[in-house]
Amino acid sequence: MSFTIAVAGKGGTGKTTISSLVIRHFVRAGQTPVFAVDADANYNLNDQLGVQVAATIGGSREEMKRKINANEAPVGMSKDDWLEIQMQASLIESEGFDLLVMGRPEGPGCYCAANNMLRRHLEILAGNYKVVVIDNEAGMEHLSRRTTAKIDLLLLVSEPSPVGIMTAARIRDLAKELEIQVERTGLVINRVCGAASVGARLAEEARGLGLEVLGTVPLDDAVVEQALAHRPAFQLPDDAPAVKAIEAILATVVL
Ligand SMILES: Nc1ncnc2c1ncn2[C@@H]1O[C@H](COP(=O)(O)OP(=O)(O)OP(=O)(O)O)[C@@H](O)[C@H]1O
Ligand SMILES: [Mg+2]
Repeated sequence: MSFTIAVAGKGGTGKTTISSLVIRHFVRAGQTPVFAVDADANYNLNDQLGVQVAATIGGSREEMKRKINANEAPVGMSKDDWLEIQMQASLIESEGFDLLVMGRPEGPGCYCAANNMLRRHLEILAGNYKVVVIDNEAGMEHLSRRTTAKIDLLLLVSEPSPVGIMTAARIRDLAKELEIQVERTGLVINRVCGAASVGARLAEEARGLGLEVLGTVPLDDAVVEQALAHRPAFQLPDDAPAVKAIEAILATVVL
């Protein structure tokens, strides 16, 4: 059984950075290979992991559709088998993790059967891994359609402000409304700076909204420098404050 962590939150809060540090943690902990899924249509988790994307699921699906319409589909192969092959071909294998990039979501003309097949194959594929980390796009709606059935930990990332925390609480509520099966929801307050008491006060604010606070991540110069040097967050040093914060947070998460 795999343990699925879905990282979600408002735009620009640090979802992709935190996803890559979560993946880094499990790779270092030897829970390998980690299955990394980039579910953001504007994918860039690969940049933060330091790998290149050759194919995306969305791209493969478009190509399959085009071939079906042009009568160029492979003869003697079911669509199901074909999709599975495409999916395997889209998997980027790296040291300690495999990455699957969902790419653009299905367009209006896409047949539903393909999406059902896709979801099923994703679930089968995910079952091969101990840990699945999904980096999502801002908002929540697509989660129910595109990714695995069950989420063990919904990791909400928020800005270090009461408004940001309120938004995270709304996303939690939306997940409930969408009836996404979530075992546990936890908040990470990112880019915390200022007086030492700020993190504690923000956490208090979150608890007031019924959110479990997993921890805070400081505004980290090392993350900024890494981004400016166009280097992946995955390769941040062990002593980077953001890395240490994620390590402390994940120490409380039992698989
Ligand atoms: N703790 C941190 N300290 C400093 N900079 C950070 C920190 N976390 C994230 N950043 C920076 O903030 C920016 C946005 O981060 P990121 O891309 O991870 O956000 P996102 O939530 O995935 O955005 P999007 O909604 O566009 O997918 C990046 O430039 C990243 O380097
Ligand atoms: Mg992102």
